[in-house]
Amino acid sequence: MKAIITTKYGSPDVLELRDIEKPIPKDNEVLIKIHAATITTAETMMRTGYPLIGRLFMGLTKPKHAVSGSGFSGKIEAIGKNVNLFKIGDLVFGESLSHFGTHAEYVCIKEDGIIALKPDNISHEQAAVVGDGYVTSLNFLKNLAKIKRGQHILIIGASGSLGTAAVQLAKHFGGIVTGVCSTRNLDLVKSLGADKVIDYTQEDFTKNGVLYDVIYDTLGKSSFAKSKKSLTKNGAYISPVLSMSLLFQMLTTSIFGRKKALFSATGTLSVTTLRNYLKEIKVLMEAGKLKSIINKRYSMEQIVEAHKYIETGRKKGNVVMSIHE
Ligand SMILES: NC(=O)c1ccc[n+]([C@@H]2O[C@H](COP(=O)([O-])OP(=O)(O)OC[C@H]3O[C@@H](n4cnc5c(N)ncnc54)[C@H](OP(=O)(O)O)[C@@H]3O)[C@@H](O)[C@H]2O)c1
Repeated sequence: MKAIITTKYGSPDVLELRDIEKPIPKDNEVLIKIHAATITTAETMMRTGYPLIGRLFMGLTKPKHAVSGSGFSGKIEAIGKNVNLFKIGDLVFGESLSHFGTHAEYVCIKEDGIIALKPDNISHEQAAVVGDGYVTSLNFLKNLAKIKRGQHILIIGASGSLGTAAVQLAKHFGGIVTGVCSTRNLDLVKSLGADKVIDYTQEDFTKNGVLYDVIYDTLGKSSFAKSKKSLTKNGAYISPVLSMSLLFQMLTTSIFGRKKALFSATGTLSVTTLRNYLKEIKVLMEAGKLKSIINKRYSMEQIVEAHKYIETGRKKGNVVMSIHE
């Protein structure tokens, strides 16, 4: 089968399309023929091997898992002899976080992994991207910030993968949502339901005197220190972008003061928690309450081009790899 292989850390040119052996499902696994896989900003960072701290998990001198890719959507082609939850022919979507491997024609996933039946009303491409933006933002807004109806939520990077999901989720949970984005993305963010949009090229949210219960900085473009005066007295600054200063502020605000700085590595949550998040999003998508924003589609042959595009930092929503039609 064809797969994208990364044998060393480096520029997008380290990515190679090669023929490798098709995996065989173990007794408790399903073999999925992948129709679409997401290509994420986090994956472009993993390819570089920076920040260095990430190598503790990803491999010290080269990537531990040669085939990249986590989010997938496809069709079950074979099942192990102990599989009860799925059958051949089921259309499924999810995340492969233990061994990645979804930038390939086939992947094996444990039947009790982060996997669910794909909603009929969304495409494979729309399903493949759910694990990045939606699952992460659900973890941040619901689990970390515990957002409540009527709270004021500011979302920085509202046009990105996490941001486009966060605007819709925050509205679903009854938040009063302000999205921060560039001029070119104002209409997109409004169309997702944001009550207000701030064009960061024209206005600095830290200087307009408005207070927020939660500031979700999906890109790590601001900081707890800069955002603090824009938080309500029990407000929280939450960000998925790890830095030493955020870790330090998380520690100090857990002891002192009422305003909090919070970080979480969503991929390290238990498989059960992540599968439940996936299923929660699935129900909302089936009901037509959330939609995946797809910016660009690439073939496997175009993987280098895809990484270069994502690294511009300007993608709107998500980028997908179309594998089998
Ligand atoms: N901790 C976790 O669990 C976890 C999980 C998944 C991802 N992540 C991390 O989360 C981060 C966000 O990923 P993502 O895929 O959502 O980002 P993304 O899609 O790559 O973000 C790009 C978007 O941000 C906009 N943007 C750029 N500069 C901005 C600014 N100053 N203010 C507001 N918007 C700006 C860009 O449009 P313009 O250039 O036009 O503004 C573009 O639409 C990544 O660092 C990723 O590694 C963490």
